[in-house]
Amino acid sequence: MEKDVSIGLLGLGVVGSGVIQIVEEHQEELVHQLGCGVKVDKVLVRDMEKARQIEINHDLLTTNSDDVLANADIDVVVEVMGGVDTARKYILEALKAKKHVITANKDLIALHGPELEKVAQENGCDLFYEASVGGGIPLLRGLSDGLVSDRIQQVMGIVNGTTNYILTKMDKEGQSYEDALQKAQELGFAEADPTADVEGLDAARKMVILARLSFFTNVELDDVDVVGISNVSATDIDYGKKLDLTMKLIGFASRQDNQIDVSVEPTFISKTHPLAAVNNEYNAVYVSGENVGETMFYGAGAGSLPTATAVMSDVVEALKNMLLGVNGKQFVVPRFKKELTPADKRFSQFYLRLKVKDETGAFASISDLFNQLGISFERILQTPSNGDFAEVIVVTHQASSENFVKAMKQLDQLDVVESVESHYRVEGDA
Ligand code: NAP
Ligand code: HSE
Repeated sequence: MEKDVSIGLLGLGVVGSGVIQIVEEHQEELVHQLGCGVKVDKVLVRDMEKARQIEINHDLLTTNSDDVLANADIDVVVEVMGGVDTARKYILEALKAKKHVITANKDLIALHGPELEKVAQENGCDLFYEASVGGGIPLLRGLSDGLVSDRIQQVMGIVNGTTNYILTKMDKEGQSYEDALQKAQELGFAEADPTADVEGLDAARKMVILARLSFFTNVELDDVDVVGISNVSATDIDYGKKLDLTMKLIGFASRQDNQIDVSVEPTFISKTHPLAAVNNEYNAVYVSGENVGETMFYGAGAGSLPTATAVMSDVVEALKNMLLGVNGKQFVVPRFKKELTPADKRFSQFYLRLKVKDETGAFASISDLFNQLGISFERILQTPSNGDFAEVIVVTHQASSENFVKAMKQLDQLDVVESVESHYRVEGDA
């Protein structure tokens, strides 16, 4: 390209500031890749007077979206403002004005990705969202390009930096849930409303995107079973340590016999599994493919510069496509009709903590109940009795979700069981 290309930013927060910094500080690398410079022409913000994390020419800022979306000089629009409705409206406007769009917005892509991809294609535009999952990890292209010839069977990962940070601090430093969450907010990992992080919704949105890319099916948010970390207790984390298990919020997506299963839940991972060593805000996604075997993508899952690096990789991709005249190819083209895996075909190990009456035969009644459902125990831990009650911790062998749910219901009715205190999925060869 002869002249510099112009990008317009929607948003100048954590990620937008990183984009500005990369454009300024890595111009040489961009020129080398593209043969021309990249400049930021306009930046949409809400508040012109707000103090910014970076130095920026005040004339670039605007509160009028038309200055970006109807700006004939702008080739690529980068949406890093977040939210769903306004972001969707602006992206549709940009695409219809034949501008390529890059977004880091997993909420939007999980909810409206197929619609936006269609409009992008109709307008010959690129719509890329590498930064929407795994922050700076080149994950989506890793799946869609690197593993293009393979059949992916399972994706299992830590895809939310905030919850991984909280669980790491609770596990390794004994911090309280509240303190660790506050620090994650200060560090800029957490969403504006961190409920989406801690209740697993952010991870669920990312798993929707990963499942679509991995299995070529239009998975939707309602297809994902979601449990967050707000009820994870220090007690269970401590028992986990005794059993060589580490608590992580894990997203799963698997395909078997053309049936898809997607979930997000706090999970005990065996300490020997590579995901157990992924700490703080780091993310990692462990992918099993028919031919590639097992492979892991690891890196900073959030934060200004890592996320902006992924955004800029999309910008460069769109600009390279412009040079080649090949924009508008859909990132993911669905091929399969969606069919969800029923509960009797979903298997895993489970951890279970029970408060039981400290009396003869109590454990025998519990193990009878599990026997009848065909669930056997791999490990058992019993704490000394505290007055009338003892705590029993069990790790089962592989069992179907259907049978485990039945066991939970029946346990509630057993006289010897005072309460089911907690239960978690266990992965990674406990
Ligand atoms: P942020 O720090 O809250 O920044 C949002 C920016 O957008 C602010 O500059 C804000 O303007 C602007 N904005 C919001 N709504 C607007 C509106 N209606 N009109 C005009 N401007 C508006 O958010 P962020 O952390 O950078 O996240 C941006 C996106 O990236 C989100 O979709 C997020 O999920 C995603 N993401 C973030 C990370 C991360 O580590 N933070 C990682 C991966 C993906 P003012 O500054 O004037 O208020
Ligand atoms: N709130 C998100 C996280 C930001 O903690 O992972 C990155 O998507």
